Amino acid sequence: MTAPLLTCMLLALAAGAGGAAEREPAQGLAQRVASLGKDKYGELVAQGYRIFTATPKHAYRYSGNALSCQSCHLDGGTRRDAAPLWAAWGQYPAYVAKRDRVVSFEERIQDCFRFSLNGLAPPLDSHEMRALVAYSHWLSQGEVVGANPPGRGFPSLARTGQDSDPQRGKAAFASQCAACHGAQGEGRRGADGAYLFPPLWGANSYNKGAGMHRTDLLAGFIKANMPLGNPTLSNQQALDIAAWIQLQERWPDPRKGLLQGLLDK
Ligand code: HEC
Ligand code: HEC
Repeated sequence: MTAPLLTCMLLALAAGAGGAAEREPAQGLAQRVASLGKDKYGELVAQGYRIFTATPKHAYRYSGNALSCQSCHLDGGTRRDAAPLWAAWGQYPAYVAKRDRVVSFEERIQDCFRFSLNGLAPPLDSHEMRALVAYSHWLSQGEVVGANPPGRGFPSLARTGQDSDPQRGKAAFASQCAACHGAQGEGRRGADGAYLFPPLWGANSYNKGAGMHRTDLLAGFIKANMPLGNPTLSNQQALDIAAWIQLQERWPDPRKGLLQGLLDK
């Protein structure tokens, strides 16, 4: 076993131990899904859960990279400050600046397929879309429609008064992130070939049209959630690391021509 892999497994263990209370909902969630009724609704919700947690496998028709929805929407889309589904479902239809119009919940999911998964937008009545919507609805039971609850989305970072420094970010990335995500941000696969730790850039990660490609959202996500299980970075460190990640290669924004998209950072 290589030293980085060992470190990585130790870190993952530490993450499990340190954040036991926080990781618990995800384990409880798998059990709740397993005990769903075997009727058509229960089956659709369970399929939504499978798609959400292993998207390349269960929504391969529309997925374009190695990421799953859960790579960013942590713990099956239940974790606060990691854009949880239960907080999102009752807030649509809503105005979305990216499309400059009011969009449905389904259309919002389509955008994550196109940009975050660098794939294709599933048709609104596709099985995959209906499963994801049923799963989101199930997670949202008891939430108040239109209430915009705390914990929704990714937290934004207060300005630090200092410019972010990608070189400092590079060093922090090497010490805080590379053990799990790889020195080149390439992620790490398990024995079965599926990713244990998702790629942060390169051909298998999100494209330049994705929300994560915005420094403020990426830094907010990192600050609230990474290193996984032990998020202890300062605002400045999160911004520096985000600035370093922004400099790396990834697929262009599909809304732009290929050439313009490639030249664009
Ligand atoms: C690369 C990271 C990433 C992946 C993978 C990803 N998303 Fe997202 N998603 C985001 C970001 C960033 C936002 C915007 C959050 C914000 O505005 O605070 C978002 C927003 C959303 C929202 C709206 C949240 C809200 O509160 O309004 C939904 C619903 C959603 N995603 C569903 C999905 C689904 C379903 C998948 C898998 C098919 C997926 N996402 C995959 C990053 C991702
Ligand atoms: C203990 C291992 C571990 C460490 C250390 C870690 N991460 Fe992660 N990270 C993960 C896992 C696992 C996921 C995906 C969550 C899931 O699938 O449940 C993830 C997801 C992400 C994502 C969203 C998905 C993607 O591919 O873009 C980003 C961005 C990210 N991490 C950045 C970082 C940064 C920056 C650091 C260092 C500050 C870091 N991570 C440290 C394990 C780790």
